[in-house]
Amino acid sequence: MNASTHSNPRISSAPSAKERFAHALTLVPELADVEQVIRSSFKSDVASMRDIPEYLLSLGGKRIRPVLTLLCGKALGTDDISDEFLDVAAGIELIHMATLMHDDIIDQSPVRRHKPSPYAKFGTPATLLSGDFLLTRAFGLCAKLDDDIVTATEQACIELVEGEALESALYAEKHSKASSLTIAQRKTASLFRLAAFCAAHLSGGSLETKRLMSTFGECLGIAFQIIDDILDVTSDEATLGKKQGLDLLERKPSLVNVLWLESGDADAKRLLIPPLSPADEQPWVDAAVLKLKDGPVISEAKRLAASYADQSSKALTEALGGNLHELNPAGEALFAVVDFALDRVL
Ligand code: FPP
Ligand code: MG
Repeated sequence: MNASTHSNPRISSAPSAKERFAHALTLVPELADVEQVIRSSFKSDVASMRDIPEYLLSLGGKRIRPVLTLLCGKALGTDDISDEFLDVAAGIELIHMATLMHDDIIDQSPVRRHKPSPYAKFGTPATLLSGDFLLTRAFGLCAKLDDDIVTATEQACIELVEGEALESALYAEKHSKASSLTIAQRKTASLFRLAAFCAAHLSGGSLETKRLMSTFGECLGIAFQIIDDILDVTSDEATLGKKQGLDLLERKPSLVNVLWLESGDADAKRLLIPPLSPADEQPWVDAAVLKLKDGPVISEAKRLAASYADQSSKALTEALGGNLHELNPAGEALFAVVDFALDRVL
């Protein structure tokens, strides 16, 4: 056997999940067109309705939802991305932007993506209204498409609102692992599911393909939210773009917080009491982060994230015909997206 066919495990040439994700992005140059549609939705003769969305867009982000919409379409054989695809991808990102504006007001979060959050910079009334403005623009885009897309978009938005409404603080209401996962499904996974469903629908997929792609998106979204919950504890401010341990401070029913409470650890009981000032909470938050970081709670959360990522990959494999050797580049890229999401915590 030719020795050169053996890879040295210490000098592996296999691309990392990050490199495969970067490659995935090169397959969707139409992302620039989506960005154009998003920007053209900011048209208004009221300055704040242009400036606040423009500010949020300028903060960056992975644009994971439009990327998913485009990749799912291409993976299912849509080579030419139509205006309908661009409108759906832009509409979903506009809805996401609206939820971030409203969420920062609800959470009173001063920082998003390393910068003052829209609400901190422009105030509550204007930011609230900007979110309403974007949501209306999103429905303007979706309403040009057929009933199935309008209905699926309505359903996803309803779930977003319900997910946020269910996310009461741990001291205000009893939460469980099941309720925490329900919140993740509604507040995060609903838009991922919408992206994958709409792409399957616009690609002319069968009912079964649409069902499988919806499952793919939903399970990926749940994994994504669990990973976010883990990173709140395991990552640092420079990477997160906001302070570490905010879910602890805010007593959020994140999966990590709920699993910690359910573990019976006496230190976790403070989650059931409303927070003092951030400065007074800091020593407890620091100690909690240190304790949780490499402990069993984070291991269990990682196991759950991996399990949802696995369910997501299984549904995707089936939706794409069951043979991983016959995937087109976009199909391969979708698996890279799943791996990249997990790789951030594993
Ligand atoms: C971020 O959660 C929040 C969401 C993913 C959903 C927010 C939903 C709403 C505000 C309902 C409004 C709905 C519409 C359609 C406008 P997080 O606080 O855990 O994440 P963060 O750290 O990024 O703030
Ligand atoms: Mg928030």
